[in-house]
Amino acid sequence: TWTARSFIESTVKEIREKVGDHRVLCGLSGGVDSTVVATLVHQAIGDQLQCIFVDNGLLRKNEFRDVLDIYEEELNLPVRGIDATDRFLAELRGVIDPEQKRKIIGNIFINVFDDAIAGDNDFKFLAQGTLYPDVIESISFKGPSATIKSHHNVGGLPEEMNLALVEPVRELFKDEVRNVGRELGIPDHFIKRHPFPGPGLGIRILSDVTKEKLALLREVDDIFIGELRKQDLYDDVWQALAVLLPVQSVGVMGDERTYEFTAGLRAVTSVDGMTADWAHLPHPFLAHVSNRIINEVRGINRVVYDVSSKPPSTIEWE
Ligand code: XMP
Repeated sequence: TWTARSFIESTVKEIREKVGDHRVLCGLSGGVDSTVVATLVHQAIGDQLQCIFVDNGLLRKNEFRDVLDIYEEELNLPVRGIDATDRFLAELRGVIDPEQKRKIIGNIFINVFDDAIAGDNDFKFLAQGTLYPDVIESISFKGPSATIKSHHNVGGLPEEMNLALVEPVRELFKDEVRNVGRELGIPDHFIKRHPFPGPGLGIRILSDVTKEKLALLREVDDIFIGELRKQDLYDDVWQALAVLLPVQSVGVMGDERTYEFTAGLRAVTSVDGMTADWAHLPHPFLAHVSNRIINEVRGINRVVYDVSSKPPSTIEWE
C-alpha cells in the first residue's frame, strides 16, 4: 500500500541514484508542488541542489518577499530570488491570447533558469513539480484540439539546454503531494496554500497585461483571499481567485458617474482540480467582500461571482 513515508524513502533513493554527483536546478513557484519537490531533492542530495524563485511580476501582493522568507527561514532551502519582472512584462506587452501568454511566460522562465546556471557544467538536471493532472491536461502531442491548456510546466525543455528532468511527483495527485509535504515537515500553513498557476496573474487579466492592471488585480485578490482567511473559509475551498475583466461598465460613486472595470471572483471545491464545483460561499460574505473591493479599489466599480462548474468551464478563466 502507498504511504507518504514509503514514497519519500523510495523517491529519495531514486533521485540520489539518478543524479549522482551532478547538480540539480529547481524552480520554486511558491506552491506546494515545487516546494515538496525541492524538499525531496534536498533530502536526497543536500546542497547539490540550487533552487531559484523567480519574480515574474505576476505574483500576488507581497508574495515574492513573503515566500522567499519562508523558503529561507522555515524550510532552509538553498534558494536564490531573481527579479525578472521587467523581462516578463516587456515580452507580454500587448499579448491577449491565453495560450500565447503561457508560451511566452514558459519560455522566459526557461531563459531565466538558463542564465542562472550559465557556464556551470555541473548542472545536469532540472527538478519540476509536475503533477499527474498537469500531464493529463496537456497531451499536446495530439494536436491543439486535444489540448485543454498547455500547463507551462509540461512540454519539455529546449534541447540545447541539456538538462534532464527530475519530476518525482509526476504520478501523484494534489492531495497525495500534500500528504508527502506534511510527512516532510513542511508547515501546515504552507501545505494548505491554494494552487496558483505558474503564469500567475498573467492569465487572470483577461486582456493585455499591464502594471496598472496588475496593481488593481493584486488589491482585489488581497481583499478576497484575506477575507476568506479572516472568516475561516479559506480551508473550505480548494482554490479561490480573482480575475480582472476587460469590461468597463457604468457606476455611480457619490455624485459622480464612473466607468470602470469589473472584477470576477471565483472559488471552487474540488478533489484534484480535474473537476470542480463553484463554492457556495455565504451571501453575507460575498456582500462584504464586494463592498470592500468597490470601496477600496479605485478602478473597479462592479464585482461578479462565478457560478460555473468544471466541466464545462475551467477553474481559471484563461
Ligand atoms: P483549469 O483552469 O485548467 O485549472 O481548470 C486546473 C488547475 O491548474 C491550474 N493551472 C495551471 N497551473 N500552469 C500551472 O502551473 C498553468 O498554465 C495552469 N493553468 C491552470 C489552475 O490554477 C487550477 O488549479
